[in-house]
Amino acid sequence: MAGVVLITGASRGIGRGLAEKFAAEGWTVLAAARRTTDVPLDPSIQAIPLDVLSDESVREAAAAIAAGYPCIDMLVNNAAIFPGEGNERLEETSLEWFEEAFATNVVGVARVTRAFLPLLRKSAAPRIINISSGAGTISEKTDSAYYPYSVSKAALNMLTRAMAAEYRGEKISVFALSPGWVKTEMGGSLAPLSVEESAGSLFQTMTRLGLEKSGGFFGRDGEVYPW
Ligand SMILES: NC(=O)c1ccc[n+]([C@@H]2O[C@H](COP(=O)([O-])OP(=O)(O)OC[C@H]3O[C@@H](n4cnc5c(N)ncnc54)[C@H](OP(=O)(O)O)[C@@H]3O)[C@@H](O)[C@H]2O)c1
Repeated sequence: MAGVVLITGASRGIGRGLAEKFAAEGWTVLAAARRTTDVPLDPSIQAIPLDVLSDESVREAAAAIAAGYPCIDMLVNNAAIFPGEGNERLEETSLEWFEEAFATNVVGVARVTRAFLPLLRKSAAPRIINISSGAGTISEKTDSAYYPYSVSKAALNMLTRAMAAEYRGEKISVFALSPGWVKTEMGGSLAPLSVEESAGSLFQTMTRLGLEKSGGFFGRDGEVYPW
């Protein structure tokens, strides 16, 4: 299985690693980023300017891609932010951080997905991958860490379930995947996984999951995650 994949947030971290992995596996990669100069240089990778916060930017990206490609086989909604230091108490958490986390991690995913559905519909086997996080799991939550980030990822999981239900009839599969704890600007230097390790196992899972599993929340190796 190879095709055309669009990855948001491909300027660094896991998104950049996924762009390199998909290209190495023979995919055509549309690497969407605010800073396109940071997208990996590779004949199979085309840098696409895209800010998930901007209607205009997303519309222009969709028009540019539609002019050059007949379809998109996979959309990877990877771009996200982690406002704050991470362990602030609720009273110390800026309310703006909630709004910023929602704007990028939830509304940004809805904006990008809506814009690219026409191109996904032209694929023989379209799929949407929302990069979520174990921090979005509600049922196992026993601490109060990461308010803005964790509530936004829990909301992303609900968005994933709802989209999967809506698009099942069109055979568009939608998954939430957790990449593990990864050494990136967001994950920090103490994380056990390298970008290459995470992207390698995510690639296997992203390309193997079938329509029957649509609406599921999985770890990078395909293990079922609790909601
Ligand atoms: N690292 C971990 O341990 C970990 C764990 C669980 C889940 N995740 C998830 O994995 C995904 C990737 O995380 P990461 O660790 O690679 O994070 P990262 O190193 O902070 O990279 C985030 C990426 O998102 C992009 N981005 C942010 N806002 C954007 C916007 N408005 N428009 C376009 N791109 C935007 C950034 O682009 P700029 O360069 O332009 O800022 C950057 O490319 C995220 O969804 C994150 O929540 C990560």
